Amino acid sequence: MLCTQTLRIVLVVIILPKSVILLKNGLALTPPMGWMSWGYYMCGVKCDENPDKCLNENLILSVADTFYNEGYQEAGYEYIIIDDCWSEKERDLDGRLVPDKKRFPNGMKYIADYIHNRGLKFGMYTNIAAVTCMHYPGSKDYFDIDAQSFAEWGVDYLKVDGCFVKENDLNTGYIELGQELKKAGRPMVYSCSWPYYIQYIHNKKPDYSPIAKHCNMWRNYHDVVLTWPALKVIMKHYQNEYDTISPYHGPGHWNDPDMIIFGTGVLNENQSRVHLAVYLMLSAPILLSCDMNKITRYEKKLLQNLDLIAIGQDMLGVMAKPYQLEQSVTLWVKPHLPKKGDIFHSFSFAVVNLDDQQHLISIFPLAYGVNSTDGYSVMDVFANTFKNNITLKESFEVVVPPEDVILYTLFPL
Ligand SMILES: *[C@@H]1O[C@H](CO)[C@@H](O)[C@H](O)[C@H]1NC(C)=O
Ligand SMILES: *[C@@H]1O[C@H](CO)[C@@H](O)[C@H](O)[C@H]1NC(C)=O
Ligand SMILES: *[C@@H]1O[C@H](CO)[C@@H](O)[C@H](O)[C@H]1NC(C)=O
Repeated sequence: MLCTQTLRIVLVVIILPKSVILLKNGLALTPPMGWMSWGYYMCGVKCDENPDKCLNENLILSVADTFYNEGYQEAGYEYIIIDDCWSEKERDLDGRLVPDKKRFPNGMKYIADYIHNRGLKFGMYTNIAAVTCMHYPGSKDYFDIDAQSFAEWGVDYLKVDGCFVKENDLNTGYIELGQELKKAGRPMVYSCSWPYYIQYIHNKKPDYSPIAKHCNMWRNYHDVVLTWPALKVIMKHYQNEYDTISPYHGPGHWNDPDMIIFGTGVLNENQSRVHLAVYLMLSAPILLSCDMNKITRYEKKLLQNLDLIAIGQDMLGVMAKPYQLEQSVTLWVKPHLPKKGDIFHSFSFAVVNLDDQQHLISIFPLAYGVNSTDGYSVMDVFANTFKNNITLKESFEVVVPPEDVILYTLFPL
């Protein structure tokens, strides 16, 4: 079961197609981290029948309190985002969106102020069409008015969906709304679902050039559902699409595989390590979606493991490159910005085993672009220890348990 010993020298260079112009609004220079309501609370409007899944002011403020009080903010979790189903069914007489009067009795500015007072950031949601995916008012014909409302309310992040939109209207709508947001004058991370709808609703290949030029992040693939098999499909998708999407990925413009499903009770510890490690290796946005009180002690430890978070928040922002070593074993390799004073990059290596058997894998780092002539010091990220030092001529062996990941960061000596 040893991986191939053939020496493959792989140059880790980032080649952008010549014509790519990227959105430069100074935001999301590292992938956004935070919490978003959809994955767990979904529409969350039946508060009397189902108070545990109620999307309302109390919920949003309590997430802010948890981030502030329980170490999440220090670890980098910042954005708190309300997804669909936050508004009244009708606009007001001036054509403005109105927050649901029962669930958001003090309006959105109140929530934004509360969140900002804790040093956190506030996100909201709309759709390019006349209605949202759940049939609340959408922004079509109101891009300017809605952009102004979001700006006045103090929104820092806007997720914009693309349900019920024709292909061409996706291509124009995201650009036009982006321009209105800019005019409204408040910097907002612009999260688009544009390529997802092009690829999976209109069955066309997305052109990522305009997407990366106008959006800070974008959804490429289906919504996550709360199961381990769904995560495996998503991870496989990003592996398969690496060549297509990685050139557009970097500081200020990110591919987004959707939310982290911690706190929902569906993952064992091994699976939760795989989930978070792969998303951080991808430099994906890390958006939780759960009742924060249901995050297990172990999940919290992972979410606040700074050596782990550093892998995804590294300023170089490179999406890890996947190598299929065996049918169920993938190696992901990610270079990091050299530490101050270092000339050589550090690298993270994640060996992911999705089999129900353990696998013994041998990795020869030189084959994947590492080049520090003095060798590397190897950190085991989950064990939180430095293991050993290796020279450029050495390989290392790992035993990866079933549905688990071994994650090492190599620092140049
Ligand atoms: C080492 O590799 C990195 C990343 O592949 C590359 O950017 C850098 O130029 C190389 N450094 C030297 C000194 O060869
Ligand atoms: C690795 O090398 C560094 C620098 O030479 C040294 O300080 C450290 O003790 C070494 N670590 C191990 C585990 O050998
Ligand atoms: C999880 O990993 C442990 C070792 O880290 C391994 O012994 C165990 O079989 C794995 N559990 C599951 C459920 O895959």
